[in-house]
Amino acid sequence: LRSAYTEHHERSFPVSSTFYITTPIYYVNARPHLGHAYTTIVADSLRRFHTLLGEDTWFLTGTDEHGDKIVKAAEAAGQTPQEFVDGISGQFQALWPKLGIKHDQFIRTTDADHKARVQAFLQKVYDNGDIYFGEHGGHYCTGCERFYTEKELENGLCPQHLTKPDFIQEKNYFFRMSKYLPWLAGHIRENPDFIRPERYRNEVLSMIESGALEDLCISRPKTRLEWGIELPFDKDYVCYVWFDALLNYISALGWPDGDKYAAYWPGEHLVAKDILKPHGVFWPTMLKSAGVPLYKHLNVHGYWLIKDTKMSKSLGNVVEPIKMAEHYGLDAFRYFLLRDMQFGSDASFSEEALITRFNADLANDLGNLFSRVLSMNAKYFESKVPPMGELAEDDKALIELAENSRRNYVQLFGNIRFSQGLDALWDLVRALNKYVDSQAPWTLFKQGDTARLGTVIRLLLECMRKVALCLWPVMPGTAAALLEQLGQPLPASERFGVAPAGNVNAEEGVWECLATGSVIASASNLFPRLEIPEEMKEDKKAKQKKPAKEKEAKAAPASAPAEMSVPGVAEYADFQKLELRVGTILEAGRVPKADKLLCFKIDLGEAEPRQILSGIAEHFEPETLVGRQVCVVANLAPRKIRGLVSAGMILTAETPDGELTLLAPVGDVAPGSKIS
Ligand code: MSP
Repeated sequence: LRSAYTEHHERSFPVSSTFYITTPIYYVNARPHLGHAYTTIVADSLRRFHTLLGEDTWFLTGTDEHGDKIVKAAEAAGQTPQEFVDGISGQFQALWPKLGIKHDQFIRTTDADHKARVQAFLQKVYDNGDIYFGEHGGHYCTGCERFYTEKELENGLCPQHLTKPDFIQEKNYFFRMSKYLPWLAGHIRENPDFIRPERYRNEVLSMIESGALEDLCISRPKTRLEWGIELPFDKDYVCYVWFDALLNYISALGWPDGDKYAAYWPGEHLVAKDILKPHGVFWPTMLKSAGVPLYKHLNVHGYWLIKDTKMSKSLGNVVEPIKMAEHYGLDAFRYFLLRDMQFGSDASFSEEALITRFNADLANDLGNLFSRVLSMNAKYFESKVPPMGELAEDDKALIELAENSRRNYVQLFGNIRFSQGLDALWDLVRALNKYVDSQAPWTLFKQGDTARLGTVIRLLLECMRKVALCLWPVMPGTAAALLEQLGQPLPASERFGVAPAGNVNAEEGVWECLATGSVIASASNLFPRLEIPEEMKEDKKAKQKKPAKEKEAKAAPASAPAEMSVPGVAEYADFQKLELRVGTILEAGRVPKADKLLCFKIDLGEAEPRQILSGIAEHFEPETLVGRQVCVVANLAPRKIRGLVSAGMILTAETPDGELTLLAPVGDVAPGSKIS
């Protein structure tokens, strides 16, 4: 599956001197939820990633505080608009540090400085002749804070909110957006990653080509709305909230003459697909009209869904990010968000998926690696870093794999493919666990081969340092703790804010970083395995009971991913959730009072053999299976069957006449080998 990327690994990631990242400025009519947290955590991780590349970074977030929606929400809360926006903006500002987010600047559109710069921009566009006064009737959706043309409505309804907009006829100011649309289409075609991933670029191109876009109404008469920025050329009007809000990205930097503007613009924007049009169409045409350089990239992600539906207050399914971070650990939550969403596509959020990911990647792979290697180093070398001796072929292969894994991680992460980037880094984590198994330090110890034992442990420790360094953008606290365990502490005051020493791009060939003979941690237990709570299992059982067909299905298919959206069709992302591995059967036995069940102990290349139950007792004699290799679904949520925990599933093929065969690789392979 990943071989497609290895061909790119020779390219080093292009580094600029500065990196400026923004999130949308969030409306203050609702409390921050998982969706806001996701975008802001991604921005924080990207900012940290670019700091690790040695760039000078600036990270802006903030709140969008003008417009009808806010006035209505304030009225409903019995407050003045200013009191109301102060309260909710404060909640956003208080939340971000709790999620490990270190923004450099927080902008509010009610800031006096922002208002002055919006007025200067409006005046500039007006003086250029791109704003005119006209009479206009249009369909106004309060939810979107914008007019829709007839063509844009779907069955007369707002396509976002599925509500009937109000028809409003009034005199207003218009921005000559249509004048710039042919130019914009050309720019998008010539710069294929200006809007990315590609599907959103195509969406913007078809919006432009559909002919449905007209000039943009950029004012609201004060008789209808006062809560906004007054137009510099007509005091009876305020500025349309989107025109005001988009400008935050440059007003924050002090456009037109601020030092930060000179240093950091043009920047990178991060948004979800809901606000593609303002960012993909309004904003570049506004910039063009004012003669301001365009942003570098518009990076667009999908939605986090809850059981395939949107989060909403009325459905009572809003996920509070802080609760998740408190319950599962901040870094585990951040890791899950970046790892489980394919940037650009929608993803389903569930605590069960979080626990499964936690157990597979953090407890089994990463946590286990640190715990095994540090405790072996404690036992064999009194926790002192052993010297690196002569390298064997296996060591050289591991070094090559480590270099590739890091390069792929850098390349993918930098190109906003966070999930694939982390998976590329996990290639190294998994390889390190396998290297422990294949080198068997315990045997080297028994044989008294101290030099070889030292080299094996030292190489592992050096690779672990690289993993910890690469993890810092996503899991800053964990990276700091792991580096500390390896004797590479970050200054306490700078743990979260300042990047660790080192530069991910300049890591090539750096293989003796730890201090030989220095004492490092003797144990590590950052990610103890989590149990899936009974109520989540119950929930899943109930789901599985529903469709009669699924009930009839045999043991194996019964655990097919529950979140599939189209029956019978696995999205690529669904398939990617499965972790398939080759295992070697170490033990096989019958389960008392269960005619169909066999209980296996299977070597999956992990510290302990896995216990897996399978309903295949009618087809095999258990003794004949010991030593056989099988294909296993390795990240299936563990469940109890007849009082025994089963952590995985063995794959079989069934002939039309009901005979079962175990699936296995053609030749023997190392236990734990990944099937893709
Ligand atoms: N105020 C405007 C943005 C102006 S930017 C110049 C706005 N605010 S918002 O509060 O509605 O935030 C929308 C953004 O919140 C999305 O683009 C996305 O970044 C984030 N999310 C809100 N819900 C989300 C999900 N369910 N999933 C992922 N992110 C989502 O629009």
